[in-house]
Amino acid sequence: MNKKTLTITLLILTISGILAACSGIDQTFDQSDQKPEGTPSSTEQPGEKELDPDEKDLTVPEGALQKKDEGDQVKLLQSALNTIGYSVHENGLFDETTTWAITDFQLQQDSLLVSGIYDEPTKKALKKTIEANETITAGAGLPQQAEPAVTDAGTEVIANPYDQIALINKEHALPADYIPEDLVIPDVPFPFAEDLPKKQMREAAAKSLEQLFNKADEAGLELYAQSGYRSYERQDAIFASNVLKHGEEEANTFSARPGESEHQSGLTMDITSPNVNFDLITEFGETEEGKWIQENAAEFGFIIRFPEGKEEITKYQYEPWHLRFVGKKAAKEIMSQGITLEEYLN
Ligand code: DAL
Ligand code: ZN
Repeated sequence: MNKKTLTITLLILTISGILAACSGIDQTFDQSDQKPEGTPSSTEQPGEKELDPDEKDLTVPEGALQKKDEGDQVKLLQSALNTIGYSVHENGLFDETTTWAITDFQLQQDSLLVSGIYDEPTKKALKKTIEANETITAGAGLPQQAEPAVTDAGTEVIANPYDQIALINKEHALPADYIPEDLVIPDVPFPFAEDLPKKQMREAAAKSLEQLFNKADEAGLELYAQSGYRSYERQDAIFASNVLKHGEEEANTFSARPGESEHQSGLTMDITSPNVNFDLITEFGETEEGKWIQENAAEFGFIIRFPEGKEEITKYQYEPWHLRFVGKKAAKEIMSQGITLEEYLN
């Protein structure tokens, strides 16, 4: 090979090298839009559905869930809520925001009782909403923030008065305009005949009270319901009358300021018996009825809300007659541990 031939050969090799490199670059760009080698295409695997990475898992949790629950099932619920239009933090904690979303969803479904608890009927409605590919407007049932945020007395107003486990006390008040939407009169004995508003309770609480009273009756006990639902205005009048008689400080050890009474929630009933002349007095706790209530109330979802010895926490005197419905799960934990709702929630 002479020098001229060598030069031409080298030139040809260099040009073909550059062309090869260029085509390599072109190939790289082309490949970026293609499946990597070895990935079967849908035509190569007939019958196998290609997974859309954006497709959400459509399952919902099977069992009941409520405030304070934690874990993967709660995460699954939060993911399901986000699928239908919420944007709750998928942190696996059934927190205030999750309680709000469940409550808001329940308020937008005519068939559901509103409790903030993920129960069987709520599960069915949620599943149906997801399967129908429907979304709902978050907050259309229940705004996430209370308005106004504080009462005239400076107490924080709670945003979710429907929550079955809502903490209502001297630091957390119900909105003044809150009237429970499912008030009914429980079929239990009252020591008076008139159909007064105070006979009422929210539906779930009323049903459970009937079961509690039936069981007490089977045990040969005589329970009577004395005072349930009170409107904000009624509580205002009762508190004002107590203040006139006892002064504000003393009155507030046994009577709640308007907005701060659980009676406005429709989840409470004061109960009594002939053994104490149908009065609401601490001696009720010493009667057979009072002792039976202490032992059995939780089985029906009720707690003694102002227990003896917990006055520093509840800020009210002992009231063995004041039953608050919180549902079985919370009631059993609270009563078996001998704690208050404040301690359970904080
Ligand atoms: N007796 C309770 C504290 C109330 O007035 O709601
Ligand atoms: Zn009461």
